[in-house]
Amino acid sequence: MTRLSQQYDDVAFLSWAKPTTGTPKHINDAAISAIKNGLTGGYSQSEGLPILREEIVKKLKRDNNIEANTSQIIVTVGAIEGLAASIMATIDPGDEVILPTPTYSTHITQVRLASGIPVLVPLIEKDNFALDITAIKKAITSKTKAIMFCTPSNPTGTVFSKEYLLELAKIALENNLTIITDEAYEYFVFDDEKHFSLASIPELRKNVITNYTFTKTYAMTGWRIGYLHADEEIIIQIKKAHIPFSICAPVVSQYAAIAALKGSQECIEEFRQHYLQARNLMCERLDRLDSVFHYNKPGGSYLMFPKLLGKKGDDSIAFSKNLLKEARVSTTPGIAFGPTGENHIRLSFCVPEEMINKAFDRMEAYF
Ligand SMILES: Cc1ncc(COP(=O)(O)O)c(C=O)c1O
Repeated sequence: MTRLSQQYDDVAFLSWAKPTTGTPKHINDAAISAIKNGLTGGYSQSEGLPILREEIVKKLKRDNNIEANTSQIIVTVGAIEGLAASIMATIDPGDEVILPTPTYSTHITQVRLASGIPVLVPLIEKDNFALDITAIKKAITSKTKAIMFCTPSNPTGTVFSKEYLLELAKIALENNLTIITDEAYEYFVFDDEKHFSLASIPELRKNVITNYTFTKTYAMTGWRIGYLHADEEIIIQIKKAHIPFSICAPVVSQYAAIAALKGSQECIEEFRQHYLQARNLMCERLDRLDSVFHYNKPGGSYLMFPKLLGKKGDDSIAFSKNLLKEARVSTTPGIAFGPTGENHIRLSFCVPEEMINKAFDRMEAYF
């Protein structure tokens, strides 16, 4: 949609899923200073700079209740590379990976790229896209190796509850499956929602690979820096994929990441407040279009996934294309997130409020 949007002037974008606030100054300054001090010209250890991994260990304890040590961490080229390496390390060709859908489409592609078979299990939309534990149990076969998901979710904004995640963990232990989590939006939760990391449960240590990123938390999309946590035995396998994928994460970004973790964390709360206001505004504006959209209020991330009412929504690609052409509003067709995404569009509220108002003023006039 971003490429198509280039054909038109003055588009209102609700299709971006990247923070539009810039990276905080103290993080930029640390990277500049690392360059000036000649620290960034070479590779680092493939698993990342030791000081960065020490800071990550402190963060995991402080914010995720995960007791880790530096040998359980790999610094990655964003969460994406960590997720791809996690999948590569976990499955062989023909193995099945369960993905509750709609989900982040790259997860599905990553399973295919590793010659695995994505098994898409629908979320329960009427329960705000909750995990369908019964359906997940039924989907397990002798070929199932892993369950992969993001919480908070892209595209639905759902924060999977601790209760449901523990059910999932039980299934993983009973069937010796690996759970690969993508916790990119861990800090962006609203209302009474709480983000929960399964790796905080010591008994699950050998079954869980957890992927995090600096991209969303510190608005560092272009720095390409993230990290993963797993048991040492799994880390050895993941490194076999991480090294041929990347050798190491960009060293200048690793210095920026150290500053991000060591510096003030106030920016995270500022971003969260901004997304919360933007979410509330988007919900208010959607309420005024209740003959076109039905939505679940997202408890996290900066994304939501309204259902399209009426016949026009049967083809979400055509719907999004028409909206762009006729109303100059860019959205993401729901089908991009798996077959259960059809009849929906994804809207991002990580944009300035003026952009949300402009897009909805145009949609009100259009519909
Ligand atoms: C759920 C999810 N995971 C991962 C990513 C990519 O993260 P990174 O930039 O750290 O590779 C995104 C980006 O939109 C995302 O929404």
